[in-house]
Amino acid sequence: MSKKILILPGDGIGPEIVNQAVKVMDKLAGEGLDIELDEALVGGAAIDATGGPLPDTTLDLAKEADAILLGAVGGYKWESLDIAIRPEKGLLGLRAGLNLFANLRPAILYPQLADASTLKPEVVSGLDIMIVRELTGGIYFGQPRGVRELDDGEREGFNTLVYRESEIERIMRVAGDIARKRDSRVCSVDKANVLECTELWREVAVRVMEKDYADVELSHMYVDNAAMQLVRAPKQFDVMVTTNMFGDILSDCAAMLTGSIGMLPSASLDENGKGMYEPIHGSAPDIAGQNKANPLATILSVAMMLRYSLDEAAMADRIENAVNKVLDDGLRTPDIMADGMKEVSTEEMGDAVTAVL
Ligand code: NAD
Ligand code: IPM
Ligand code: MN
Repeated sequence: MSKKILILPGDGIGPEIVNQAVKVMDKLAGEGLDIELDEALVGGAAIDATGGPLPDTTLDLAKEADAILLGAVGGYKWESLDIAIRPEKGLLGLRAGLNLFANLRPAILYPQLADASTLKPEVVSGLDIMIVRELTGGIYFGQPRGVRELDDGEREGFNTLVYRESEIERIMRVAGDIARKRDSRVCSVDKANVLECTELWREVAVRVMEKDYADVELSHMYVDNAAMQLVRAPKQFDVMVTTNMFGDILSDCAAMLTGSIGMLPSASLDENGKGMYEPIHGSAPDIAGQNKANPLATILSVAMMLRYSLDEAAMADRIENAVNKVLDDGLRTPDIMADGMKEVSTEEMGDAVTAVL
C-alpha cells in the first residue's frame, strides 16, 4: 500500500523550499517509491484561511499520514497576534498532538562548504554531530505560563520549566540508541548548577545510561559552556542530548558550523518512528518570495524521512549523494556562495538536485 505523505508548506520561504523537495519526491515516485502526497494548511497561511494556525482537518490528516514534510511557519504579518494563536502555535500543536518528542538535528559539514563556515576550515572539517532535542516538554509547554498583574500594578511574565522523569528517560534512550550507531558518546547538556529541573535531568541521564547503555560513554556539560565549546572545538561532540529550549538554541548555533542554517534538516519522531520532517530554520521573511532561499535543508529532510519513516535507506543515500554532487559542481545559493562558485536560485538548486538524483 502506498505511504501517505502530508505536505505542509507554511509561510515565507516555506512554499518555495518545499516545492523543491516535492520535485525530488516526485522523481523518486516516478522510479518506484510508493508514495501519495497530500497538502494542508498550517501557520500564518492557515490563520488567513481559517482563523487558526492548526485547523482540525490539518491535524487529522497529519495523524493519518505515514510522514509529514513541513516548510516553516511565521512572519511579520502575524507578529502582533496573541501568542496563543500565532503561526508558531500551529507547529507546536503538531509536535504535541502527534507526540513527536524526539527531535534529531544532524549538523554535518559537507567538505565542499568548509569555506562557507564562519569558522576556520580546520575547526569544522569532518564535523558530524547529532543534536537530540526533547521536543514536547520543558519550558515550551510547562504550566503555569502567562503574564499577570501584581498588587503594585506592575506586570510579570512567567513560564515554567518542567520535566517528568519518564520524559527525560525516553529522550535519553533515543540518544543512547543513536550513539550506538555512531561513536557511542553522549554529552547531556543542562544547567544543573542552577535549575532543579535539570538537576533531575542529569540524575535520570546517569541512571538510564548506567543501567541500559553501559557501552555508551556519558558526559555532562552546562549549556553556557556547550555553546562556547560548539564554536571553539565542535568536533569533540558525537551526540548531544538536551532540553527543548537549549536544543533550539544550540542547533541554530551548530547550523552555522556547516556553512548555513539552510543546510540543517531535522526529524521529529514519536515512540513508533512516525515522523515530521523539516529544516531547522524558520520562514526567513527577510528573503521570502525572492527565489534565493537554500532548499537543501528541506531536501535533506526528505532523506531523513526516507530513512526513519519509510524504510528506504538506499533512496535516502541517493538524495544525500545528489546534494554532494551539486555542491561538487559548484552550485551555491547566496547563503553559501563563495569565490569561483556558481550562484543559483532556489528553483535552480532544486532542479539540479532532481536532475542528478
Ligand atoms: P529564520 O531561521 O527564519 O531566519 C534567520 C536568518 O537565516 C534570516 O536572515 C534568514 O534569511 C536566514 N535563513 C533562514 N533559512 C534560510 C535558508 N533556507 N536559506 C537562506 N537563508 C536562510 O529565523 P527568524 O528570522 O528568527 O524567524 C523568522 C520567522 O520564522 C519567525 O516567525 C519565527 O517564529 C519563525 N520560525 C519558524 C521555524 C519553523 O517553522 N520551524 C523555525 C524558526 C523560526
Ligand atoms: C524551531 C523553531 C520553533 C521552536 C518555533 C518556530 C516554535 O525555532 O523549530 O527550531 O522554537 O521550536
Ligand atoms: Mn529554532
